[in-house]
Amino acid sequence: MNTRIALHRADCREVLPAEADVIITDPPYGVTKHGEMLGQIAPNYKEKGTHTRGYADHDPQAFSDLLRPAFDLMLRSVPKGGLMLAWCGNRTLAQMVSHAEYTGWQMLDLVVFTGGGSWAKSKSMLAPRHETAALMRRPGSIRNFNTDRTKTNHIHLPKTRGESDHPTTKPQTWMRAAVEAFTEPGEVVLDPFAGSGSTLIAAHALGRGFVGVERDTEFASIAARRIGEALRR
Ligand SMILES: C[S@@+](CC[C@H](N)C(=O)[O-])C[C@H]1O[C@@H](n2cnc3c(N)ncnc32)[C@H](O)[C@@H]1O
Repeated sequence: MNTRIALHRADCREVLPAEADVIITDPPYGVTKHGEMLGQIAPNYKEKGTHTRGYADHDPQAFSDLLRPAFDLMLRSVPKGGLMLAWCGNRTLAQMVSHAEYTGWQMLDLVVFTGGGSWAKSKSMLAPRHETAALMRRPGSIRNFNTDRTKTNHIHLPKTRGESDHPTTKPQTWMRAAVEAFTEPGEVVLDPFAGSGSTLIAAHALGRGFVGVERDTEFASIAARRIGEALRR
C-alpha cells in the first residue's frame, strides 16, 4: 500500500507542483475581491448575518487570479493523461471550467452527485438537489478508468452531515465514491484546496496516498486532526 501522505498549510500557488497521480478537489465556488472564499470572510462566519452576500460579492477577476495559476500548477502535478475531478458551484461552473481549459486541462464530463438537498437560498433561486464536479484530463495520453464501461456520470449516495466544522465539508460517502471511481489503490491523490481534509481521509480509507494543501490555519488544523484520527483507526 502507498503510504505517501502530506498536508501543507500553505497557498497552493506557492507549493505546487506536487507529484501525484490524480487530483480530486473542491476549490472555492466564488471569491471576494480580496480572494477570500465566499461566506468565509467574517471570523465568526458560522453566525447568521456575518456572511458575505454570497455571489453578489463574487469577483470574477480575483477568481481568475486564484484559479489560473493553481490549475496550471495542478496540470504539472500529474502525468500526461492524469485526471482531475473538481467540484464547482452551478453559478460559477462555466468560469471554473474555462480557467481550467485555459491552462491546458481537457474537459471529459460532468459528474452529478445526488443524495442531499436543502431549501432554496432565496425566492429567486432553485432548491438544490445535486452538486456537480467537472472531470478533466491532462492531454497527451489516455487513462482507461472505465474498462467495463459501466461507470456512470451520476453518483447517488446519501449525503452524510456534520463530519467537521468546516462550512463546506464534503460528505465521506461522495468522496469515497469519487476516490474509488477515478483512482487505483496505491496511487497518490492531490487536493490543493483541502479544507477539512475530506478528500485526504477518503483516499487513506481506500488505501491511496495523499497530498493536501490548505491555506487557512483553522481549516488546516481541522484537516490535521481528522487525518490523525484516521491514521489511528
Ligand atoms: C470549498 S472549500 C473545500 C472544502 C473541502 N472539500 C472539505 O470537505 O472540507 C475550499 C478550500 O480552499 C481553501 N483555499 C482557498 N484558496 C486557497 C489557496 N490559494 N491555497 C490553498 N487553499 C485555498 C479555502 O480555505 C477552503 O478551505
